[in-house]
Amino acid sequence: MEIQSPAQASYWIVSGQSLFLVMHVLGLTCFAYIMYRRVVPLLRAQPDFRFDQPWIRLRRVAKYWLGQWRHPRYKGAGLLHILIFIGFIVLAGRAFSLLMIGASSGFAMPGFSGTLGHFYDIVRDYAATVVFICMIVAAVRRIVFKPARYAVPARLGRQRGQDAIFLLALIAILMLADSLFEGSKAAVQTQQGQASEFLAVFSLPWICEQALASFSLPLLSKLGLGAYFIHNLTFYFLLCYRPFGIQFHVETSLFSVYFAKLEREVLKPVRWGVHDEQLDQLKSIGVKTFEDFTWKHMLDFYSCADCGRCSDQCPSNAAGRPLWQLSLADHEPSGPVAVLRWSPTRWRKLEAVRDRIMTVSTSR
Ligand code: HEM
Ligand code: SF4
Repeated sequence: MEIQSPAQASYWIVSGQSLFLVMHVLGLTCFAYIMYRRVVPLLRAQPDFRFDQPWIRLRRVAKYWLGQWRHPRYKGAGLLHILIFIGFIVLAGRAFSLLMIGASSGFAMPGFSGTLGHFYDIVRDYAATVVFICMIVAAVRRIVFKPARYAVPARLGRQRGQDAIFLLALIAILMLADSLFEGSKAAVQTQQGQASEFLAVFSLPWICEQALASFSLPLLSKLGLGAYFIHNLTFYFLLCYRPFGIQFHVETSLFSVYFAKLEREVLKPVRWGVHDEQLDQLKSIGVKTFEDFTWKHMLDFYSCADCGRCSDQCPSNAAGRPLWQLSLADHEPSGPVAVLRWSPTRWRKLEAVRDRIMTVSTSR
């Protein structure tokens, strides 16, 4: 019995290829629409000139984004994040090729055949394992140890711990589904006496292969195809859900770091492009409506990971003053429906935003 590739298999009465093609189109269309709605406020926001000195900006991206320079400031969470980030970089190629084989069974990443491909497969198996373990550790930290900085005072907004755990669980499912798919394929090959795909010893796919070794061939085939389906479903759900939660920074952090302010100790002008002599011609000064924020402020709202480090380090907060960065996100209409229905009028109604301006303008 040959193990069918997802593209050749049938799912109920639908061919795998058609099913996964539809899934790709729907998933990418939803993501494009959500991103469009997320970008619209930035286009209506106040200007802020951040397009100069590209080489310095790229160096900062290399240091703070790729190099994760600031994460070790919080040792436990920082180390976890660095491991997750490395896993993300390694597994980006894997996620792409895995999605592609649903549409075309013979798909192989260009340049990833032969020795390089073999080496990549081993690194990838360990990366999936490390990310899976990190998800469990991160969830245990949040559920059992509950670091105080994540807590939001009741008067200032809702807790977002459950959302964080849900997102961690989705990534864990992604890793497990990928490993089950690989493990079941290798188990079929071994049972049939074929040269089985090499899986890195003690990695998650390898553990899956060992655990599935005694399963019957039809069951292994079903398990592999089911795992592949769950992987793709989870991937697109996560892609479209992230822009509504604390993991949107996976997409936005690169841009937030690239466009970060370069000069310290230089205050931003009252309004970009407006000279001091023209200030009295402005209808208002400061932030009254959401569009009074600059596009960079908004990008930073999107990038906030709700980690509570700003409040943790803030002397005013320590002194009991009501400055609490975490609560700002609560004034944004949240949840899929609210964000898709975004309109400037809606934002204008959010008077509470004004009460939090100081928090933002003092921390960026
Ligand atoms: C410069 C880039 C980035 C910065 C500054 C950043 C920052 C952060 C911060 C501050 C947290 C909260 C950590 C904590 O709870 O203490 C976090 C969480 C997280 N980040 Fe990033 N991040 C970046 C890029 C990425 C990327 C590219 C990924 C892609 C996988 C990612 C995945 C995650 C995940 C999965 C969490 C949740 C961890 C948890 O809940 O414990 N981050 N990030
Ligand atoms: S703004 Fe505060 S809560 Fe948000 S990511 Fe930065 S330090 Fe964390």
